[in-house]
Amino acid sequence: MPAPTIVLDVDTGTDDALAILYAVQHPDVAVAGISCVAGNASLEQVVANTHKVLDVAGAPLIPVAAGAVKPLIERAQQEDAFHGVDGLGGVVLPDTERTASPLTAVELLRQQILAADAKVTLVGLAPQTNIAMLLTMHPEVADHLERILFMGGSAGTGNITAVAEFNVWQDPEAATCVIESGIPVTMYGLDVFTRLTVPEHHAQRLASADHPAQRLAGELLLRRGARADGLSEQAYVGQIGDAGALVYLTHPELFTTASHPTRVNLSGIGRGQTIVDRRAIAQDAGELGRDPWRTIEVVLGLDVPAAAQAFLETIDSFAG
Ligand code: BDR
Ligand code: CA
Repeated sequence: MPAPTIVLDVDTGTDDALAILYAVQHPDVAVAGISCVAGNASLEQVVANTHKVLDVAGAPLIPVAAGAVKPLIERAQQEDAFHGVDGLGGVVLPDTERTASPLTAVELLRQQILAADAKVTLVGLAPQTNIAMLLTMHPEVADHLERILFMGGSAGTGNITAVAEFNVWQDPEAATCVIESGIPVTMYGLDVFTRLTVPEHHAQRLASADHPAQRLAGELLLRRGARADGLSEQAYVGQIGDAGALVYLTHPELFTTASHPTRVNLSGIGRGQTIVDRRAIAQDAGELGRDPWRTIEVVLGLDVPAAAQAFLETIDSFAG
């Protein structure tokens, strides 16, 4: 059976880089195209980083297209200094000869989704501006999408604010558009994102491995947390971040999910928060999906050692 087709929307980014390495190497997924959006770095940098990561992975010529430079409504609110000035936490990769598709991100996504033999899974690892524009301009893609799996949001606390996660906070209107699209949606949020870590000795091992893709993964795991100013290196955390959403895609049995009515808070101090109604009463009263709430699948738990092992197995498979 051919591997299920996915399209990726990224803001590469240290952990988007890990996600790309995993996605192009995993035998059970076929990456048909990658769209880029400003987020962890400028759009131009995101495109360059994505190409360089594909080079390191020895990936075929997967089309990569540039998309939105800013959110739908507000200006980009904050440079994400967490990933360093170039978005790769200071990791320097060789120049690339790959060039961006002449298509816009929206058009590339549209064409790849409609051209696929079977329904496509759209995986969003960044602010969802490109995806919202795709769904708005080309609603016909909905029938060709298996689901949208996005990293973003939280059923608990936030990271960029007390309640908001960065990707949703950066473009909350776009996230609303995705959640209200009627397409099956899975939210891989901070509830699991921050928990999926790789032990440091594996990161050290990878960083000195022979294959450049293993080495890149190791360096990203070790450098993740290094700030642009270089002054405040944090202790090792080892989070695989966005790559966890791909591990969920390939190994859903290692995670637990639940269906909950969900909305994005669009105003005030809580702007960008994903409000996940986990009250039993919402279920008892048959209120799942009540307007304007939409029921989405929320990833809430995981087997950390097994998921970390699944990630490592795929990264180690670069060595043959
Ligand atoms: C999200 O923001 C970025 O820092 C990561 O790449 C991830 O997509 C986490 O809030
Ligand atoms: Ca990201």
